[in-house]
Amino acid sequence: MNTDLLIVGGDGDLALRKLYPSLYFLELNNCMPDNTRIIGMARTGQTRDEFRAKIHTWLKKSIKDELYSEEKWLRFADKIWFGQGDATNPEALGAVKKDFFENDHHLVIYLAIPPMIFGKVCSSIDVCGLNRPTTRLVVEKPLGDSRESFIAINDELARTFSEDQIFRIDHYLGKESVQNLMALRFANDMFEPLWNSRYIDHIQITVTESVGVGNRWAFYDQTGATRDMVQNHLLQVLCLVAMEPPACLNAESVRAEKLKVLNALRLIPHEEVGELTVRGQYGRGFVDGADVPGYREEESDKYEIDPNSQTETFVAIKAEIENWRWSGVPVYLRTGKRLSKRHSEIVIQFKQSKHQIFEENHSKHKANQLIIQLQPDAGIALRLMHKVPGLDAGIPVEDGVLNFSFDEREKKVTHDAYSRLFFDVLRNDPTLFVSAAEVEAAWKWVDQIFAGWKATDMQVEEYQSGSLGPDGADELVSRDGAKWLNEDFELWCALD
Ligand code: BG6
Repeated sequence: MNTDLLIVGGDGDLALRKLYPSLYFLELNNCMPDNTRIIGMARTGQTRDEFRAKIHTWLKKSIKDELYSEEKWLRFADKIWFGQGDATNPEALGAVKKDFFENDHHLVIYLAIPPMIFGKVCSSIDVCGLNRPTTRLVVEKPLGDSRESFIAINDELARTFSEDQIFRIDHYLGKESVQNLMALRFANDMFEPLWNSRYIDHIQITVTESVGVGNRWAFYDQTGATRDMVQNHLLQVLCLVAMEPPACLNAESVRAEKLKVLNALRLIPHEEVGELTVRGQYGRGFVDGADVPGYREEESDKYEIDPNSQTETFVAIKAEIENWRWSGVPVYLRTGKRLSKRHSEIVIQFKQSKHQIFEENHSKHKANQLIIQLQPDAGIALRLMHKVPGLDAGIPVEDGVLNFSFDEREKKVTHDAYSRLFFDVLRNDPTLFVSAAEVEAAWKWVDQIFAGWKATDMQVEEYQSGSLGPDGADELVSRDGAKWLNEDFELWCALD
């Protein structure tokens, strides 16, 4: 049966910048049946043509020229409708229902609105009879700012919708490179025997951005890097790296395994928070060829910047997973804004055997490393030792990199993370969406860190914009004898 999509907040920033371009990609890839209808609902009055013209303008701004096809746009535009009204009001929603949904199509409702009105919109959906057994509801972060506030938001949704109707988006799970983690681990048997504390020394998960907080200062100042990135994206990536092989690739199995990882994360005691976490905030600096202001000096005419803000724009955490497979293997998480470049990678650092047969004085023997680059380009590299060519005495060894770049393949990707997630929700496949239990467990772990920071009054450490973050982040790993892979940021370019 056909599925229609209702976007509440259909004229907002998220919808225009992200959602319609991603839906257009489904059209581009012939993944949207012809009789699908996309209804944007918003309070502002406009005609269908005006609405489509606005979407067209944003589409052209947000996608690469080579991905634009006039023919596909026209087919896509044919599917777009506009419904005027305030979705918290059952009468307005009822009118939209009458105009568009008096049929037996399945319905997906996307709430592109602030969570504080989720409850009202859900009850309005219920009152006007749009919550049929097959209706699906899509929501995304911020889903609260603590476990408690998440539970309150979720309770509001759960009053109208059952858990299997709710699709919680984490756009990292829609990324090709993140899904590739599952392929790497579970479609290549060679890794499984090595994937544990016996062979792995530690894991690094890094997501750096060169952008600052821009015009989101007011939102960001209430949020910070830990809530904005760690609670969701980094912990989801950690789950895919650390989870047990699921029995199969359905939502139930995958979510159950991810949840076990989240529940096994050791809660950081207050007295250890200074040693196991680092909070940073960007100061002035130089990024992407330009001088940039510090976080507390950002300019805005919309809101007041707090010159004493203690919000972290960078965080590094040593996480520990207390289970059979991972006990004793630190997982270092690191993310921040206004760093030297946009770069995300996972490093699996293998252990080195205690007994070395190569002479130390002329060998640079290093332990193996598996490096999974997530963005901007995707690739996998394995750092291996090999003999230094030549007539030196003995067998001197040095490290080299076996590189598998997805560049060519990536160039053929004509969709983004949201398209993938739309594709799945329209097909009713929740595997790449996050369960309430996962979100709750992630908040529990993060809440404990915030409680520790508060209890110890831990201040942010300033770092220069354009740098690799505060010195504390290096100290965090060097205490364990580890080192971030920073110096290899150029590795991928060099190997092209
Ligand atoms: C969002 C955060 O969830 O992810 C942003 O709110 C961040 O602050 C963004 O910039 C990063 O996403 P990506 O896909 O560019 O890595």
